[in-house]
Amino acid sequence: MLNIVVCVSGGGTNLQAIIDGIEKQIIKNTQIIGVISNNESAYALKRAESAGVAAFCISPRKFESREAFNRAFLEKIDELAPDLIVLAGFLVILPEDLVKKYRKRIINIHPSLIPSFCGKGYYGLKVHREALARGVKITGATVHFVDEGTDTGEIICQKAVEVQRDDTPESLQRRVMEEAEWIILPKAINEIALRKAGKGKEN
Ligand code: GRF
Repeated sequence: MLNIVVCVSGGGTNLQAIIDGIEKQIIKNTQIIGVISNNESAYALKRAESAGVAAFCISPRKFESREAFNRAFLEKIDELAPDLIVLAGFLVILPEDLVKKYRKRIINIHPSLIPSFCGKGYYGLKVHREALARGVKITGATVHFVDEGTDTGEIICQKAVEVQRDDTPESLQRRVMEEAEWIILPKAINEIALRKAGKGKEN
């Protein structure tokens, strides 16, 4: 069994895709042992509750320093002891010691085809605004391992999405989620679970 912790900051539609994927057995041999949000009003926390998953809020605002927050965050992760940490719309820069300790055990979903429209400051609607401004005809989403850089870790899975002539950043964001993110994130987790069970392709 692959034990995962999902980290979220907002709506949690990717978290929902994981919850549904496990229920429908698109993701096999996997359980969510915890959801962590940095934002107490994240709707993702409600999704976790409705699914009967333990949910925790660790907000940087509740700590006197970034270091104290980082420590509390790492402690919670260590306490949960996951096989895999999934960043699903998590808008917090991870503490470096966590990245080191959990190397190749943290994945992130990014709403573009890396290396396009990624890196510092590229999150949310900005990614899609920039893709439209550049006039690309194809965009998509990427699941990658997390390293010390921003969106620089090894790519696990990508899926392309066509840009339509009348797209707005909002319509493109939605289509990238529906046609790419909600498909490749469950797929990547399933592949990692299969590999753990010794049935996946070698990597
Ligand atoms: C998604 O676009 C994801 O790629 C990005 O943040 C957004 C999160 O959406 N990293 P949600 O909270 O999963 O609905």
